[in-house]
Amino acid sequence: MPFYHKLGRIPHKRHTIFKKPDGSLYYEQLFGTIGFDGMSSNLYHEHRPTQVKEIKGSYSVKPKIATENNIKSYRFRGFQVVPNPDYLESRKVILTNSDVDITLASPQGSTKDYFYKNADSDELLFIHKGTGKLRTHLGNLDFKYGDYLLIPRGTIYKIDFDDEDNRLFIVESRRPIYTPKRYRNWFGQLLEHSPFCERDLRQPYELETNDEKGDFLIKVKKQGEIFDMVYATHPFDVVGYDGYNYPYAFSIHDFEPITGRIHQPPPVHQTFETDAFVVCSFCPRKYDYHPESIPAPYSHSNIDSDEVLYYVDGDFMSRNDIEAGHISLHPAGIPHGPHPGAVERSIGQVETEELAVMVDTFKPLKLTEDALGIADETYYKSWLE
Ligand SMILES: [Fe+2]
Repeated sequence: MPFYHKLGRIPHKRHTIFKKPDGSLYYEQLFGTIGFDGMSSNLYHEHRPTQVKEIKGSYSVKPKIATENNIKSYRFRGFQVVPNPDYLESRKVILTNSDVDITLASPQGSTKDYFYKNADSDELLFIHKGTGKLRTHLGNLDFKYGDYLLIPRGTIYKIDFDDEDNRLFIVESRRPIYTPKRYRNWFGQLLEHSPFCERDLRQPYELETNDEKGDFLIKVKKQGEIFDMVYATHPFDVVGYDGYNYPYAFSIHDFEPITGRIHQPPPVHQTFETDAFVVCSFCPRKYDYHPESIPAPYSHSNIDSDEVLYYVDGDFMSRNDIEAGHISLHPAGIPHGPHPGAVERSIGQVETEELAVMVDTFKPLKLTEDALGIADETYYKSWLE
């Protein structure tokens, strides 16, 4: 998505004759977003990508809402989400609104007998535990601990894990996910003050091209339902493409923290944006170097955004009793801040090892039944002296 990429074989000119060795034609597809206005790629298939053989039915995967209107701070114990052998069944939506689903997953196995496509949402997968390969019709990406995988809507994919111990934090966004606009120039290039640059973004490197006919199941997610669609040709049959619309990877360990003499606000940690939420990366860094600085954050009244913090690794200086895999939810409408003792504890500290992913949504989040199953119902009183 962020800059031009070319993989495989493509003809000299778009929308011109491109012949296979036997003289027949490859089939072109424009794979784009936001109508014809957003980023797109031009793909060349062995077969027409339109050959639906059968629609076997559909089933709902809409999250079951437990709390519609929430004003309570929560802690969720993310690693209590039960592992599941199937990738899609392992995904449990914890928090949701009309813009975004925030999901935890502990898949034990690779997608074997189906392909998957999210037709509604860009998917941002954060790999907390696990290694493997994301395989898509636009090429493959290897992943490991700390990787963000950004999968644009419409991408057909499979995910292969190397073993059974996997933990993912997933953000599904109805609006496209981009890098922050303020870090890009008018050509789209990431600027010098950006905490990462194009060199840090890994593009698909390996194109699987299968010239195969048969029955190929693609599970297509659309408006909260999964449609089981059988195609007559292999979904990975692209011989080449070029353009801007493709999945990519970015390691949180390649995020270069922005620091200062006094406490820097959350936007310095911003990594991705949409017009409905932001994603920030809190990475190991030196603390503020003013001689009288207080490294812990100040209390703040995020009156119009819900703050979700997913704790990955290291120490979590401003919180008491927080472990890796926990999620805190600080809802819009009430102030929140460091736990008792955290401010005092932070004075004189020179660095932090914390690693966390934050999602701030501009609309309030609803809690699902799966969220309540792993919730600490007493967390909202944890600031009492
Ligand atoms: Fe906050």
